Amino acid sequence: MIKDLQDKIIKLKKERDICILAHSYMPEEICEVADFSGDSYALALKAKTAPQGTVIMCGVRFMAETVKMLSPQKKVILANPDAGCPMAEQFDKEVIEEVKKIYPDYAVVAYVNTTVELKTVADVCVTSSSAVKICKAIPQKNILFIPDINLGTYVKNQTPEKNFKLLSGGCPTHAKIEKSDALAAKEAHPNALFLVHPECRPEVVELADYVGSTSGIMDFAEKSDREEFIIGTENSIVQHLQFKRPEKKFYPLSKDLVCHNMKITTLPDVLNCIYGTGGEEIVLEEDLRVKAVKCIEKMIEYGG
Ligand code: 13P
Ligand code: SF4
Repeated sequence: MIKDLQDKIIKLKKERDICILAHSYMPEEICEVADFSGDSYALALKAKTAPQGTVIMCGVRFMAETVKMLSPQKKVILANPDAGCPMAEQFDKEVIEEVKKIYPDYAVVAYVNTTVELKTVADVCVTSSSAVKICKAIPQKNILFIPDINLGTYVKNQTPEKNFKLLSGGCPTHAKIEKSDALAAKEAHPNALFLVHPECRPEVVELADYVGSTSGIMDFAEKSDREEFIIGTENSIVQHLQFKRPEKKFYPLSKDLVCHNMKITTLPDVLNCIYGTGGEEIVLEEDLRVKAVKCIEKMIEYGG
């Protein structure tokens, strides 16, 4: 059944000039039909260079919006319209405008997990894999980092030469994980390296052997000469790694590390997008797009 759906999708996407992008949190069967899968930063870059006229984004809404902002001439479809990122909705543009009045000499650095509206008030965007590099590279010394306090704390600790103000947003999936969960996993698997996404709490990040984006974690585990790893991010990464390196052992940090928003996209959703009977085409008002894309372009300029 899965194989039949996959074969149909692969045949039709070629015939209809469609590029399928899948975030690393998508299940294995969706990554297998994608032209490219990876972390948020890599997806943003791929979106710009993909030659196809239509892009189906298997991920969450802000990812599809980023593709549309960078490639307005393309038809961009979010595979499941209900797939949102709760963190992206945590602050309204008006709230950030008020905070900017309090800190007028601070550059607004926005995690890419934000709405299009919020991006219009940001000076530069970052992803988990590019945040440290970009915060070091921008000329401003004062940084108002929004919305993720955990990623912001990690970047702040790596960038002592700059001044940071943080707001208290964050990812509900990663924030659920406590230091006691990390200590219990380390005790259960004493020979494993502990790999963590920077959306986790600082007291969890502190215990990590490696901190990085979804792709960063996968690269590290694949290339490492070690055999066992505790994976401190969404559990689909455990699944992908076990497929790629069956001889190694990968342990989820917690069975609760599941992003339900990332889990709702299915192969039938992808097929329905191709048939034109499902998904949601992303439409952005041009004025809004032009204002919001500036911080994404800055991200690519500084991120490389
Ligand atoms: P990455 O940029 O690491 O893929 O992270 C995106 C995300 O939403 C993590 O929760
Ligand atoms: Fe958003 Fe967290 Fe899900 Fe990533 S894991 S998409 S940050 S809710």
